[in-house]
This record gives sequence, C-alpha cells and structure tokens, in this order.
Amino acid sequence: MYEYAIAWEWLSFAARWFHVITAIAWIGSSFYFIALDLGLVKRPHLPVGAHGEEWQVHGGGFYHIQKYLVAPAQMPEHLTWFKYESYFTWLSGFLMLCIVYYGGADLFLIDRSVMDLEPWQAICLSLASLAVGWIVYDQLCKSPLGNNTWGLMILLYIVLVAMAWGYTQVFTGRAAFLHLGAFTATIMSANVFMIIIPNQKIVVADLIAGRTPDAKYGKIAKQRSLHNNYLTLPVIFFMLSNHYPLAIATQFNWVIAALVFLMGVTIRHWFNTTHARKGKPTWTWLVTVILFILIMWLSTVPKVLTGEMETSMTSVQQKFAADAHFTAARDVVQARCSMCHATEPVWEGITFTPKSVKLETDAEIASHAREIYIQAGRSHAMPPGNVTDISPEERRLLTAWYESAVASK
Ligand code: HEC
Repeated sequence: MYEYAIAWEWLSFAARWFHVITAIAWIGSSFYFIALDLGLVKRPHLPVGAHGEEWQVHGGGFYHIQKYLVAPAQMPEHLTWFKYESYFTWLSGFLMLCIVYYGGADLFLIDRSVMDLEPWQAICLSLASLAVGWIVYDQLCKSPLGNNTWGLMILLYIVLVAMAWGYTQVFTGRAAFLHLGAFTATIMSANVFMIIIPNQKIVVADLIAGRTPDAKYGKIAKQRSLHNNYLTLPVIFFMLSNHYPLAIATQFNWVIAALVFLMGVTIRHWFNTTHARKGKPTWTWLVTVILFILIMWLSTVPKVLTGEMETSMTSVQQKFAADAHFTAARDVVQARCSMCHATEPVWEGITFTPKSVKLETDAEIASHAREIYIQAGRSHAMPPGNVTDISPEERRLLTAWYESAVASK
C-alpha cells in the first residue's frame, strides 16, 4: 500500500521534528546550567548553606540566582526539575532509530559487504550494544577508578574509540556513526535518569524528613554531569554526520570518530574555562583546527571493500525488480538520475555519490524504490532543479512502479 509509504515519511518527519526540539531544550538547559554553575561567585552576605550567586539579565528583567550546595536548610514550596528534556530526547531519538534504521534495516543499517546480517540480527546487535554500553560505563564509574577523574575519562575515551571501531565492523558507515551517537547519548540520558535525578530525590527526601543529606550524592551527580558536558558536542556531530558521506563512508571513519570526541573536549574546554572566568585558552581552538584538518585529510582515503560482494537480491529488492513496471522505471532512473547517483558521478560539480544513494544497477534501484517514489515520484525534490529534464510522464512511471509493487502480494 502506497499510503503506508506516505504515512511513514510523515511519521519520520514528525519524530525528527520532535527529537530536534527536545534536544534543543535538553542541550540548551544543560549549557545554561554549566555556564551558570561555573560563573557563580562567593560573596560574604550569602545565606547559610549558599555556595555562590550570580546576577543575570535577560528578557527585560534581572535574575538573582543563588546555588545551595547539597541543599537549603528548608525545602522550598515549589521546585522546578529538569529531566523531561533529557527523557524525551532519548525516547524520540529511539523512535527515529526504529523508523530509519530498524524500519529501513536493509538499506541503512546493513551493509552486506561489511557483515552479512539479517535485519533481526542487526537490530538485536544495535539494541544490545546500547544496553551493554550503559552497563559497562556505569560499572566503570562505580569502580575504584571512579575516584580518579582523569583516569576514568581516559578509560571512557578508549571504550568510545573501541565502540567506534566495532560499529564500523558490523554496520554501514552511516549507521555506525549514528549508533556511536546513540550509544553516547544513551549513557548521557541514563546518567540523568538513573543517577542524577534519583540522587537528587534522595537529597530532597532527606530534607523533608529533617535529615542532613549526604554530600556524596551531589558529588556523584556532578561527575556524571561533567561527562555529559564533554560528550554533548560529539553526539551532535554524529547525529548530523549522515548528511556527510566523507565523514561516515570513508576508510578511516572510525579514526575520524575518535578525533571528533577530542574536538568535543577541546571546544567545551574553552567555554568551561571562559565561563569560570579563568582566562581564554586560545590554544584549544588551535588544537581543534588541527584535529579538523586531520579529519579532512583522513577522509580522502576511500573505503576499500573487503567482504564478499552481494550478488543475489534480497526478497524486498526482488519484489520491486519483479514488478511489471520495473523496466520502464529503471530506464527513467538511469536516464535522469544515474549521472549523479553513481559510484563515480559524471555530473559536473557532483564529486561524491549524493547521500551515498547509488542508482546504477537493478539491485540498487530496487532497494531505493521507496526513496525514489518520495523524492521523484510523489514530490519534485529530485532531480535538483530538474536539471536532467525529467518529464511528468516519467514521474508517473516511477509512481506507478512503486504503487504497483507494494500493492502486489
Ligand atoms: C544533478 C545531480 C542529481 C541528479 C540528476 C539526481 N540527484 Fe538525487 N541527489 C543529488 C544530491 C546533491 C543529493 C543530496 C541532497 C542533500 O544533501 O540534501 C541527492 C539526494 C537524493 C536522495 C536522498 C535524499 C535524502 O535526503 O536522503 C535520493 C533518494 C535521490 N537523490 C534520488 C534521486 C532520484 C530518484 C533522481 C532521479 C529522478 C535523482 N536523485 C537525480 C543530486 C542529484
């Protein structure tokens, strides 16, 4: 049913819209609180238990914020919590993962020249990696090493690089990067859900009961917050990376990912130091630029396919290739799309296969049936600016092909 493809496309857009909004809310409030925390000033007149204060101006008024370390002597009547931003970012992100990578596993998750997986196997691997990632991370933080801030950070970095390599050994480059982002973001959200908020609740319960809360809960939460702080920027890079094939689909993509984590640290370090009013460490920008140039250079090495090339079509591909309209549709695609959507594009100005969407062989065309339908049949998004003069009649052929193939059993 073609209505399904249209509904799916809109569901995907809705989920993405929601995900970006919640992520802005989460990361925005997180950046705000980190800067606020670092900028707090100790003054003599502060109330008992207060650790620092800051004056801010925004939206036509002045804000006077005071931070109580551990807790104030008495519980305020109303307390605003910051947690749903994080929870909904994770939930909507997981929904996107299901829609794009589980729903489109054959196309986006599995690369049979990397590892020959069935969709259910790939999906299980994906889910297991996210769950195990959190457990490993959490145990490392709780181990004796957890008291050593730098030692722990270095170990976590090694885990992340190992995951970067591991994901590129099982999934498409695109899915590998996305999963690395999801892996990291799952740790960040779980930090909020499993550690930071529960610890805060213990403190609040102690206060209400009239007990003095243990300072250790605040310290643990602070360590997890620090990790989240340094992981934020790389996660955004990974989430956006699927638009940039040079980052995700070249030979050293996992090394690129490893360097991206370092760039996240160097950039955040500049902001952290500046917000703490401890000077402006310009050297961090120099390091960032050097890392970025290194990444650009690494991305010039093309991907070498080592695995067996898949020659037989999957059942989904067969369904679209066997349809009576296929030959006509394929001729349209080869005449109007393949000059750009090729391993070596021949269209002037197009240097890489756009979005890694190859439309040359029957198998490639069949596997992108739904995308062709949405991009060039139902809409006029492709070819860009109709540079290859596709006619309305040809678009109808593409539409007829998809709708007929999905209508058949
Ligand atoms: C002039 C070169 C050119 C031609 C011809 C062309 N495309 Fe594209 N195509 C691109 C570029 C560039 C992008 C990446 C756009 C972007 O980055 O958003 C793209 C992206 C796509 C995508 C991925 C969209 C996404 O957002 O994931 C699909 C699918 C696609 N094209 C299908 C087609 C089809 C079908 C045709 C023929 C009817 C076609 N293209 C013709 C250049 C071309």
